[in-house]
Amino acid sequence: MANKSFYVSTPIYYPSAKLHIGHTLTTTMADTIARYKKMKGYEVFFLTGSDEHGQKIERVAAEEGVKPIEYTDKIVATFKNLWSKMHIDYDDFIRTTEKRHYATVQALFQKIYDQGDIYKSVYEGFYCTSCETFFTKFQLDEGHCPDCGKEVDIVKEESYFFKMSKYADRLLEYIEEHPHFIQPESRRNEMISFIKMGLEDLSISRTTFDWGIPITIDEGHIIYVWFDALTNYITALDYLNDGPLYEKFWVNNEEIVHLVGKDIIRFHTIIWPIILMAAGIKLPTTVFGHGWLLSGGGKMSKSVGNVVDPLVLIEKYGADSLRYFLLREMPGGNDYYYSEDALAHRINVDLANDYGNLLSRTVSMIEKYFAGSLEVQESGFDEDIVALSQEVVASYQLHMDKLEFGSALQEVFKLVGRGNKFIEEVAPWNLVKAGETERLKVVMYELVEIIRLATIMLSPVLVETKAKVEAQLGIGEELFTFEQLNFGALKGEIKVAKGAPLFPRIEFKEVMEQEPEAEKKAPEKAETKSAESGVNLIAIDDFLKCQFKVGRILKSEKVEGADKLLKLQVKVGADEIRTIVAGIAQYYSLEELINKKVVVVYNLKPAKLRGIESQGMLLAAKGESSLKLLTVDGEIEEGAVVS
Ligand code: MSP
Repeated sequence: MANKSFYVSTPIYYPSAKLHIGHTLTTTMADTIARYKKMKGYEVFFLTGSDEHGQKIERVAAEEGVKPIEYTDKIVATFKNLWSKMHIDYDDFIRTTEKRHYATVQALFQKIYDQGDIYKSVYEGFYCTSCETFFTKFQLDEGHCPDCGKEVDIVKEESYFFKMSKYADRLLEYIEEHPHFIQPESRRNEMISFIKMGLEDLSISRTTFDWGIPITIDEGHIIYVWFDALTNYITALDYLNDGPLYEKFWVNNEEIVHLVGKDIIRFHTIIWPIILMAAGIKLPTTVFGHGWLLSGGGKMSKSVGNVVDPLVLIEKYGADSLRYFLLREMPGGNDYYYSEDALAHRINVDLANDYGNLLSRTVSMIEKYFAGSLEVQESGFDEDIVALSQEVVASYQLHMDKLEFGSALQEVFKLVGRGNKFIEEVAPWNLVKAGETERLKVVMYELVEIIRLATIMLSPVLVETKAKVEAQLGIGEELFTFEQLNFGALKGEIKVAKGAPLFPRIEFKEVMEQEPEAEKKAPEKAETKSAESGVNLIAIDDFLKCQFKVGRILKSEKVEGADKLLKLQVKVGADEIRTIVAGIAQYYSLEELINKKVVVVYNLKPAKLRGIESQGMLLAAKGESSLKLLTVDGEIEEGAVVS
């Protein structure tokens, strides 16, 4: 039987500016799922590219005094450079300025026109060039674009219209019959309500600018840039010639996945499916709309001026760390407030302390106790380790298949965390003292297996790391495949060789000890004062910078030489424990704190207090003579977001 196939695409990005980490997120998601499916034996087609037409590009090129194609050539080269640095292994990079794309868009337009679903009339309304979207007066937000807030142009021109309204009921039916078509669920509900409000016919041609694909039968008209852009998904498969890629990855494929940001889900779940329906082409299986990366000022975007350059982060932390961070932190369909501290923290906690450390401890012990050579073990394994490996392998796949990257990675780290805990529990150094060599060999083998399995599961994300682990463990790549993803598959003798740390720890600035001036910096903007209360008011964006999570206190102890401070271990996620130093010693006994569910400021810069790195802060209410920790009103898991 032929292998199953899988098709995944990213949006094609506008080359109106360089890409930022928001775009990098989508492309990393696509690359990771493509690598994961390939590892499972699927035949995969992964497409990305550039959306080069439209008024926006025409305008920026004019501002630079160059032809649009000269401008886009230059920017597209920066896209390709970024993807190569991020190890994005796409199968095709489509540019909408290519001949094959012109021909496909014109043919698709013609097909729908010939069957009577496109007609000529006059468009009168508003157009946002930044979003390349038409709006009616009622859709505007106080005269501005409801999506990006910018000024809109008034447009009155002859235009071709696409009979979208005719297909509204069929589309609703399709969405209802295919619960996985729009993901995540919240986006699906939004789209259903949107369609139920009624669809209007869509203007799909413009006459007031040139930079685009002309309609063959009426060359004064340029095809609407979104009609042009969406068609890229089938151009690249050679829909035009009914080519073998089209047959394999569209017609006979059960998994066609478009990954997009939430702002463009409407185009992908309403306009695109209706174009396909009208042309008699089957619909994709899933459109997944992820949330946005936010930074000071809201959604990260060039126009707000708050973008973070992925190349700088790759240079500083490496592509694998950035890939891991984006996928581990991004909460599926919701937005995420980016901070470089959170990135550094994630690298330290997961990659350096947990994963890297497990490898280096294991390799060191095999070198020390067995001169670097370990014979394979076949029995005497700890049942819970074997059972946990099986559970993690299964749940990792369930999450990956649903594009739940963060949860899949958390599963893997359950196993990694167990490995580190296992070392503490078993204390191999005691086995050495007791002369229990056989048990020691089994323990070492179990640790190697945990690392091997974790490395296979992490390999679609940490693409540079796998080879380094193979080299340190002395295990060939044939044992790092999906077929070998089960505990005990490792056979034969291994010869380990210690290498450089996989992920060197990032040293945080010791904020409080080294940067006391930081607090005193003048505020960047003048603050607004409330007339009633006289307090300084902040914008919602300022508040949204803070992330709070529910934590459970696992351990509390006194801090030597500090009467007021306690050192706490607080569980803030399924597998995340933080050390927090809190000034609450006068108000709570050590015992009464245990198991208390508290509210933790999750994205606070770590600070050193009495030489201890405090990785967060607890919220508390302070009265005249008392202090009470904020807690939650009932049972809820650690890591639940407080907002
Ligand atoms: N050219 C269109 C897409 C056409 S697809 C047929 C486009 N391009 S874009 O360059 O403006 O944006 C591309 C993608 O980047 C969108 O999915 C958008 O959601 C995503 N992002 C842009 N800023 C983002 C963040 N700050 N965070 C996450 N993704 C964001 O739209």
